[in-house]
Amino acid sequence: MNKELSKIMLPEESTKYLFFGGKGGVGKTTMATATAIWFADHNYKTTIVSTDPTVSLSAVFNQQIGGDREVPINHVPNLCGLNINPVDAKGVFQKRLNNMMSQISGTFGNDVVSTPCMEEMATFDQFVSFLENPDCDVIVFDTAPTGKSLRELAMPFDWASFMQKQIQEGQKLAELLPSDANYFEDLERDKKRYDYAMSVLCNSTSTVFSLVLLPERLPIAETQSAIAGLKNLGIPVQSLIINQCILSEVIEGNRFLIARANLQKRYLADIDTRFPEFIKVRLPLLDSDASDLSSLRQIGKIIYG
Ligand SMILES: Nc1ncnc2c1ncn2[C@@H]1O[C@H](COP(=O)(O)OP(=O)(O)O)[C@@H](O)[C@H]1O
Ligand SMILES: [Mg+2]
Repeated sequence: MNKELSKIMLPEESTKYLFFGGKGGVGKTTMATATAIWFADHNYKTTIVSTDPTVSLSAVFNQQIGGDREVPINHVPNLCGLNINPVDAKGVFQKRLNNMMSQISGTFGNDVVSTPCMEEMATFDQFVSFLENPDCDVIVFDTAPTGKSLRELAMPFDWASFMQKQIQEGQKLAELLPSDANYFEDLERDKKRYDYAMSVLCNSTSTVFSLVLLPERLPIAETQSAIAGLKNLGIPVQSLIINQCILSEVIEGNRFLIARANLQKRYLADIDTRFPEFIKVRLPLLDSDASDLSSLRQIGKIIYG
């Protein structure tokens, strides 16, 4: 049981936003879903949002979970799910952007509309809506693998300064335009939305950012760079979930397991020395995969009690 971790994650006065990041395959979806189920089972109104383009949430819960609306999760009262699909999000976002552009054509050209980061911007845009109008106690985010998530999260920084510039230039232009209409209302509103979303992400009271890793060399290296990348964005990582640890009681003299456990022991010590400041939780390697409700509840219990 980890009282420390559940303590920082419990919603008190306002909605808690819980993020799980990390390298592909380390157990982000497992941790995010186990956490969401745990909170729902403890009577907190919970939503799980995935920004991973794969269909993992649908697969875990064995039901169709799309990006257009939250759906109640079967057999877990208090839990809803949503899977933001970057391609769909891009379509909606592009329409909105084109609309804005056409109102102020000439100021932008088509540059923004054709940016290669459109999917990330669109995903982030949809994701911002969740931070703006939370209608539950806990929102758990199952983010995409680290590199892509960082790009998504970094986006509003460029986007915000870009919009700032456009607003300033737009105001100059607006002085020359005959009508009193505020052509830049939409832009200013978006900038405020993004600024607000970033303030939520950077606030360690409302947001808990956890990184999932394995006690192995490459996930450790990726964790180190993710911590640094998030720090650059002003987002503090608070906890590390070290997954698939081999417990001594399962070894029973097996040479293969002894070798793996010894390897892990070295990396666990390395994790302790490199990352002394975080709450650390070890999750054992289970003898089954963690893809149904009962194993996810078991994981929730191990982690949060
Ligand atoms: N502690 C664990 N014990 C056994 N299987 C696990 C454990 N954690 C994760 N898994 C399994 O490992 C696979 C990858 O986990 P997943 O959560 O999908 O990773 P990610 O979302 O980071 O790509 C899944 O099949 C999951 O069931
Ligand atoms: Mg996943």
